[in-house]
Amino acid sequence: MAGPSPANKALISAAAAPGLCPSGASGHEAISSRPRLEPHVAHSARVYGYWLGGADYYLADRIAAEAVIRKRPQVVDSAFANRAFLARVVRYLARQRGVRQFLDIGCGLPAPGSTYEVAQAIAPQCRVVYVDNDRLVLSPARAQLASTPEGACTCIGADLHGPETILGKAVRALDFTRPVAVLLLAVLHFLADSDDPVGVVAALAAGLAPGSFIAISHLTADFAPDAVRAGVAAYNTLVPARITVRSHAQVTELFGGLSLIPPGVVPVAEWRRDIGDRFGQPADLHAGLVVTGGRCVR
Ligand SMILES: C[S@@+](CC[C@H](N)C(=O)[O-])C[C@H]1O[C@@H](n2cnc3c(N)ncnc32)[C@H](O)[C@@H]1O
Repeated sequence: MAGPSPANKALISAAAAPGLCPSGASGHEAISSRPRLEPHVAHSARVYGYWLGGADYYLADRIAAEAVIRKRPQVVDSAFANRAFLARVVRYLARQRGVRQFLDIGCGLPAPGSTYEVAQAIAPQCRVVYVDNDRLVLSPARAQLASTPEGACTCIGADLHGPETILGKAVRALDFTRPVAVLLLAVLHFLADSDDPVGVVAALAAGLAPGSFIAISHLTADFAPDAVRAGVAAYNTLVPARITVRSHAQVTELFGGLSLIPPGVVPVAEWRRDIGDRFGQPADLHAGLVVTGGRCVR
């Protein structure tokens, strides 16, 4: 069985230990969504990490990841293309839009080119709040690694099903009277239609100052319906966090009619390729970016 890398053994130990991220300690919040580490159960963050070539997975994660690869080998390219989009959109926001505050919801396990690395490389004073609903993903170790002295990086345990709760916790670290960029990358597809993902994004947008941004990337079956749906079926059989794929029109709807930044909602690898960090392979995600305080001008 594969196990955690030395760097993340501490992370996983911390996640398994009682009293993780005690509320009020250094800006970390308690995470209560899972009572204990379950290495025999495939985990969405570790499966994604496997596709990205990470070392922090267990046998159950590898079995799930490989099962999806057999149905849709391009899932690996899709994961890398999504990370490249993260780098491009954060770079665009920090450099070209002057954003200095980022709220990264469903941030996942640490991986190269994380939000704080990209943002603070451009502006060291950037403040980044990581949010995830799984205790494995967030640990004091992650936050300690995360910031320049001029900036800040805070971890919050919270669930996207409660957007007001996320904003209520993040206000301790971010100034919501000023622009904030909310990143919802490869996470909204974990919300079923019955969870009202359009309403969740709208609730987040309602808490942001004009001139804030919301970036979304989202799994789609548009480019290979049969293969992607087979891959998702395998995933949903083996991973408790179930995925719902959405079409281009459905992903566009998630933005709630806010002003789309060109080029609009496009295949993830196509979004502003001029910025760099281009990953050229086709990928099964749509992506886009909106600015708050205006209506869509598509
Ligand atoms: C596929 S990873 C994406 C990581 C990162 N955003 C990226 O794009 O590289 C999805 C992450 O979202 C988290 N997640 C899933 N459902 C969530 C929810 N309802 N609330 C908060 N986080 C969630 C998972 O724990 C996992 O860490």
